[in-house]
Formats: sequence, C-alpha cells, structure tokens
Amino acid sequence: MEVRIFNNADEIAQAAADIFTNLIRAKPACVLGLATGASPVETYRELIKRCKKGVISFKDVKTFNLDEYCDLPRDDENSYYTFMHKNLFDSVDLPAGSSHLLDGNAADPEKEAAGYEKLIELAGGIDIQLLGIGRNGHIGFNEPSDKFTEHTYKVKLTESTIEANKKYFDDGKMPHYALTMGISTIMQAKIVPIATGSEKADAIGAAVLGPVSPSCPASVLHEHKDAVMLVDKAAAAKL
Ligand code: GLP
Repeated sequence: MEVRIFNNADEIAQAAADIFTNLIRAKPACVLGLATGASPVETYRELIKRCKKGVISFKDVKTFNLDEYCDLPRDDENSYYTFMHKNLFDSVDLPAGSSHLLDGNAADPEKEAAGYEKLIELAGGIDIQLLGIGRNGHIGFNEPSDKFTEHTYKVKLTESTIEANKKYFDDGKMPHYALTMGISTIMQAKIVPIATGSEKADAIGAAVLGPVSPSCPASVLHEHKDAVMLVDKAAAAKL
C-alpha cells in the first residue's frame, strides 16, 4: 500500500479529490464507494466545488455507501442517507437513483445485504472506495473480532464505536446495530483510506505495518495491492 503523509485535512481532501477527479474524467460511468464520518467531509466539499466549476460531472456515476445504521428512520438527521445528501448528493449532478445506501430498516437484513451485493456486482464492481478508519481500527462498521467478515451483513456495534459516535446524537442514544459491507466486499475495490489525528495512529500503524489480524480490521489493508492511504502527520505517528 502506498502511504502519502500531509500537513492537514485540507491537503488530504485535495489529494483524495484529485484521485476521484482522475477516475471520473477517465471513466465517466464509474462506480464510487463512499464513506461517512468526519474524515470524508472536506473531500466531498472539494468534489462539489469541482462539479460546480464543470471540472467533473456525476451524471453517469453510480455510488455505493459502506454502511448505514439500523433502526433509525432514513430521514433522521444522523442517518448516513441524510449525511450523504447533505454533504454531497444534493450539491452535485448525481441523478436520483444513482446513489445506493443500505436500508437499515429492512425487515429482512439478510435479504437487503444480499441484494446490495448483487447491485454492486451488476454495476460492475466498485472502482474506488473512499475509506475512513475507526479509532479501534474498524472499516465500514466491521468491528474488531476473531475473524474477518466477507460480504454485507448486520453487525452489533462495539462500545468503542458507540462511544465515538454518540456525540452526534442529541440525547446520546444511538443505534447499536448497523448494516455494513463486509471486508471481502471492501477489499475488491481500489481503496483510498483517509485519516487525521493522533487517535487514529494505532489503527494506521496496524493498517500499514501489520500484523494482519481481525482484532484490528484495518490491518487487512496491509495486504491490499492497490491502495493509496492519505493521512496527516498525527495519524502517521506510529509509522
Ligand atoms: C464511523 C463509520 C465509518 C467511518 C469511521 C470513522 O463509525 N461507520 O465508516 O469511517 O467511523 O469516522 P470518523 O471519520 O468520523 O473518524
């Protein structure tokens, strides 16, 4: 995996936006894997700017998001559906129907997960997956565990993730389950992991240096042949 170290989140956003810009210009009907959380927000802001300037267009692009909370109405302010519309979809020329998010309220999560995998396959697979990394090394919502996961599935969130994400929920009450792409699904794409801040340093260390272990899911990236990691100096402190 290639690792590029930057001074700040703005430089990371420029570099990530450059990677996506090059893909969209070379392959207008590409398939993007998208992420939520704080890490990708500035990258999306940069992509919006470039779209408004006419440098790129999303009109033939398809998108698939990594994950979505369960048991949260789709239009809740903390759903990833709302996040994506607010931070990207509503400000670019991506046609309605070209963005895909898991339905965290599906009556049959297994059917929803299998259908999502099928949709990705029918789209021709994800060209580039933007990837945030949790403090505990989670990717998507694949939490530390004793085995690597494969395909999209319903997961129980760990206390560490609940602790990290509950600040977004007014009453501190957040969902304890989510649907997420599995590690195998994620690993099929070219991957652009992004991270800033010292609280990500252990996970970034494991992702770059190994050892590969499901106790730190991001460590699987160590084996990826086509990944470009973009981090700031604080996140790169253990490298
Ligand atoms: C969240 C998301 C992940 C995200 C990660 C890091 O829980 N499910 O997809 O990448 O945690 O979030 P942040 O970028 O806010 O640190």
